[in-house]
Amino acid sequence: MRLPTHKRLMIFSGSANRGLAEEVAAALGMKLGEVEVSSFASSETYIRFSESVRGSDALVIQSHVDPVDHHVMEQLLMIDALKRASAKRITAVAPFYPYSRQDRKARGREPIAAKMLADFYKAAGADRLLSVDLHTGQIQGFFDAPFDHLTALPLLADHLAESLKDDLVIVSPDAGGVRLADKWAEYLGDFHGLNGQVAFLHKRRRHEARNVSETLRVVGEVKDRVCLMVDDMIDTAGTITNGAESLKAAGAAEVLAAATHPVLSGPGVDRLKNAPIEQVVVTNTLPVPPEKQLDKLMVLSIAPTIAQTIKAVFEEESVSELFHGENQR
Ligand code: R5P
Repeated sequence: MRLPTHKRLMIFSGSANRGLAEEVAAALGMKLGEVEVSSFASSETYIRFSESVRGSDALVIQSHVDPVDHHVMEQLLMIDALKRASAKRITAVAPFYPYSRQDRKARGREPIAAKMLADFYKAAGADRLLSVDLHTGQIQGFFDAPFDHLTALPLLADHLAESLKDDLVIVSPDAGGVRLADKWAEYLGDFHGLNGQVAFLHKRRRHEARNVSETLRVVGEVKDRVCLMVDDMIDTAGTITNGAESLKAAGAAEVLAAATHPVLSGPGVDRLKNAPIEQVVVTNTLPVPPEKQLDKLMVLSIAPTIAQTIKAVFEEESVSELFHGENQR
């Protein structure tokens, strides 16, 4: 007996950033699937899908925002429930990959948390992962199955290009981000005819404290230039604001900033408000609630980028071509 096979796409959202998941579903002409998410008195999470998922190509979108561990667990439980309810293929969509900065043992007796998270996704039942601008591209290798790595670079760069000129310097706030700054320079040159130089800041982190860094010096020519600082994330905004101050002290005419993930923890918003930065452009891989919004903070939607990728994967077409290869880094 031969049965016809029909692929059925279903998109579900965790509780962290439902607005983004709704936008993704709408861009695909769909509605989000129904799932009950609640908590026991003890704080344990309860999940139940309200409709059949049997045979579906199911995606679970979750943003890993504070409290990160809770949101990770919620997504893992949804994946486990989908597996046990016979979904055919399960994709975990983690626009901001959790624990991405713990991607190696920088010192003895530390975990490699980003690898452990990939193992969790696999154990729960994820067949694929989809994420945007990983802290380091190697994280893809932690997950032993297809990993769609998207980039927000074209989205951010196309938005900023309108107000940029050739007196531009793309600045990485640390030596590790020079490759990203190079990518920006190449993209702005190739797609907007802008001839930007690249500079970087020599940054040092303190081992004994998390999220504490100091900028030591500017490497490159920035005097009287417009400086665009590019990074994967803004967390407490220490990196970007220290960097902006160093650039101004070195004679920069104006400082702008672009980053994919607006983590904006603790003092992040106040620091951005008071920093000598004219405009900060980010995406909504993580939600930016009203109390974190600032006039100088522009949030662009990553939903169309995620939706295009989901469509390409579902229709078995190339994902790299959507990004002109910019996602391969
Ligand atoms: C570091 O390697 C990252 O790319 C970011 O620069 C850093 O995590 C930002 O953190 P914060 O905003 O707390 O300085």
